[in-house]
Amino acid sequence: MHTATEERIIRPAKNIYGSLRLPGDKSISHRYGMLAAFAEGTSRFTNFSTGADCSSTLSCMEALGARVRKLADGAVEVTGVGGHVTPADAPLDCGNSGSTMRMISGLLAPQQGRFTLVGDASLSRRPMERIRRPLEEMEARLTLTEGHAPLTIEGRALKAIDYTTPVPSAQVKTCVLLAGLQTAGTTTVREAVRTRDHSELAMRAFGATLTRTHDSVSIAGPQRLHAIDAAVPGDISSAAFFLCAAALFPGSSLVLESLGLNPTRATLLDVLTALGARIGVLNLEEKNAELVGTVQLSAPDEGLGSTTVSGALAAQLIDELPVLAAIGPFTRGGIRIRDAKELRVKESDRIALVAKNLRAMGAEVEEFEDGLDVPGGQTLHGATIDSGGDHRIAMAFSVAALRAEGETLIQGAESAAISFPEFFNLLDQVAER
Ligand code: S3P
Repeated sequence: MHTATEERIIRPAKNIYGSLRLPGDKSISHRYGMLAAFAEGTSRFTNFSTGADCSSTLSCMEALGARVRKLADGAVEVTGVGGHVTPADAPLDCGNSGSTMRMISGLLAPQQGRFTLVGDASLSRRPMERIRRPLEEMEARLTLTEGHAPLTIEGRALKAIDYTTPVPSAQVKTCVLLAGLQTAGTTTVREAVRTRDHSELAMRAFGATLTRTHDSVSIAGPQRLHAIDAAVPGDISSAAFFLCAAALFPGSSLVLESLGLNPTRATLLDVLTALGARIGVLNLEEKNAELVGTVQLSAPDEGLGSTTVSGALAAQLIDELPVLAAIGPFTRGGIRIRDAKELRVKESDRIALVAKNLRAMGAEVEEFEDGLDVPGGQTLHGATIDSGGDHRIAMAFSVAALRAEGETLIQGAESAAISFPEFFNLLDQVAER
């Protein structure tokens, strides 16, 4: 059971104004950390994610023989195991991180030895069958506990497969590719919606060869990886809270520098533009095949319009949907979300918790199995928010609180540190009161 340990009061704001440089992207940091720990040589990363999830990845990889050092200038140095991990005596603790557990399983399935992976209460409720299926097709030996963690892997040589993911998931795709990297023959993953492609880009940066079509990615194994030096782009899913907050205040101006703008991650910018926000992108450049740039946003004087997020968009925006729903009441026409059933199996049931917390603030909202209807033109009042120990819920409702009447109390506010420990400090920096 999660027990809320920290409460935070969020007062309404008059405006959002300022310029920020955000900590490194969580998805990219997981991948750089994991690949560097597996590669040959010593990699160095600046702006590596400060979130607890990425620390879980690094500590699992350390337990498997990699060396991790935090340098005085804040950089992270990782010395890899050169393709062969050392089985750990103790279970590998993935904490709250689904990415760590699902991706590391693919990395370990073809290794020699026995590995046990555990997680916290939230992670132990999340579905793991989705990685068991392709890995067993590759002839891996993997045991789950009633479809969940703890999971045990008996490493062995695998067989290449051609796999179509039943539910779009970058974590599952990565799991299969990491197993394919170490497996003779060509392993292919096909997906109906192109999910975030950081693994493909990162594996290439570490020296691997992958081939891609519009709906598939293939890797011919086995291949070796070599160390790299890289700067991690700012996290656009963390930026989402600030972009949505700024979009709510006519007269706002927010500048986010060195932000990751990978097209498989930047859909929020299109949605906010469709809602009426004015967005400019400057200084675009590529770093290790990841697009990085400066984003400027200001809110429309007439307020945000309305939008529907469904189909492929819902899959690509999955991490940003809680905050989009949370600002729905302050739009003119409302926000409608469908085809987002996956939200129910994230760190919490995000559909249920968004609906519950919007209602606590006095909003009208309709809940569906795969989404929400949040009507616009509503006035919200401060309330006590149950974050459910879910970082994105805690941060989404801190944003809604900026436009509510009265103070809002966020329970379980410490969960923000899962992806974004600096969140509350940075919010205080740009929120004018
Ligand atoms: C992630 C993929 C997504 C996302 C998660 C991070 C990743 O999960 O929600 O926050 O880094 O690959 P799914 O793979 O379950 O869609």
